[in-house]
Amino acid sequence: MNQPVKILGIAGSLRKASYNRAALRAAQALVPEGATIEIFELNGIPPYNQDEEMHPPAKVSELKTRIRAADAILIATPEYNYSVPGVLKNAIDWASRPYGDNAWDGKPVAMIGASPGNLGGARAQYHLRQSFVFLNMYPLNSPEVMIADASNRFDNQGNLKDEKAKQLIRQLLERLVAWARRLEAPLASAT
Ligand code: FNR
Repeated sequence: MNQPVKILGIAGSLRKASYNRAALRAAQALVPEGATIEIFELNGIPPYNQDEEMHPPAKVSELKTRIRAADAILIATPEYNYSVPGVLKNAIDWASRPYGDNAWDGKPVAMIGASPGNLGGARAQYHLRQSFVFLNMYPLNSPEVMIADASNRFDNQGNLKDEKAKQLIRQLLERLVAWARRLEAPLASAT
């Protein structure tokens, strides 16, 4: 894969001043040469209903198209009640259906978490990793980027100001790009 690695960024929060969306914006600024990050917003996706999965809402079809067009996925999510926010899990579920048409299948994925609390959303990330097994996604194992004490790591405009967090995100992106190229390599050499 000599072409740029296209990363699709998804924030697990709809909040305007979301630290996690701010972390995605920081990632856009820190992305290594040879890769790009586009952000997909989850607002407007209705609650999943299996009765409608054969005729999904337009926003869901768009999400699936964008996932399929991406070489890798970057999820920045808060932790809600020690787990994955409903808005993100809902989008994951929609894009995994109908059975046999899972848009996440085979995608490399990395995660960032930001929380005003002490663990930076760690528990949500481990719950996501469990879903990645059934989704057949390939999560990057390290570095783990969990931005704790987020209110002191971002300024009032939502700019990430913590140098250690920036360095970790930079490393995460470099490894995600390498991971995507590595996963793509056997397919490329077979053609
Ligand atoms: C939270 N928050 C939270 N934080 C955390 O570290 N662990 C948790 O389990 C929870 N649970 C939780 C549940 C619900 C319903 C809300 C609304 C919030 C706090 C959360 O980390 C904080 O609101 C973040 O600012 C949310 O992320 P964004 O929107 O800033 O990206």
